[in-house]
Amino acid sequence: MVNMQVILRQVDDVIFRRAEPSDLIPVMEINLKTLPEHYSDYFYESLLAEIPEAFIIGEVNGRHVGYVMCKTEYGFSNFKKLGFVKKGHVVSIAVLEEFRKKGIGRTLVEESIKGVKIKKCDEFYLEVRCSNNEAVRLYEKLGFVIKQQLNAYYRDGEDAFLMAIELDK
Ligand code: ACO
Ligand code: ZN
Repeated sequence: MVNMQVILRQVDDVIFRRAEPSDLIPVMEINLKTLPEHYSDYFYESLLAEIPEAFIIGEVNGRHVGYVMCKTEYGFSNFKKLGFVKKGHVVSIAVLEEFRKKGIGRTLVEESIKGVKIKKCDEFYLEVRCSNNEAVRLYEKLGFVIKQQLNAYYRDGEDAFLMAIELDK
């Protein structure tokens, strides 16, 4: 079969590309290893169907090492008073521990920003554990700002920061 995968970006030996259905099992495996929040198979499939432009895989020598997956929503702006906008929402992002601190997380977020812009989102937001300094710092470096603290957002009772960025068109 002809390989139709389109590489979005390559940084050293890391390839960044859009996910396809055969990537979902490896993505679920990374998610299980790295985060306490898990999702149904159907949910992964629905995110890929909805916005493949912002469902990005990081791959090293054919091995899946990271992913980001997103959805879109309409709702009140995190920036404008009384504004109703289209928002991209980072549902989940993770990089395997042994591949962290190489810029993979950053590139995944950068590529997902491009993806939600293709879908004409005005803003991009996410929730992150208040204790997750690594992730909060990464988002801040990319221009996200803390907009709210969500009380007991996680099942274990921890609060989340809601972080958001306005996207220029
Ligand atoms: N050499 C040395 N350091 C580097 C290099 C390099 N070549 N490239 C980047 N770095 C540094 C960055 O400057 C940054 O440092 P800083 O935090 O001191 O500013 C740090 O490495 C991390 O940046 P990245 O490498 O871009 O990110 P990484 O690939 O490590 O992934 C992530 C970050 C996704 C948060 C990862 O830690 C992870 O998977 N954590 C577990 C899962 C998780 O918490 N996900 C987020 C939950 S919130 C949500 O999903 C919406
Ligand atoms: Zn969320």
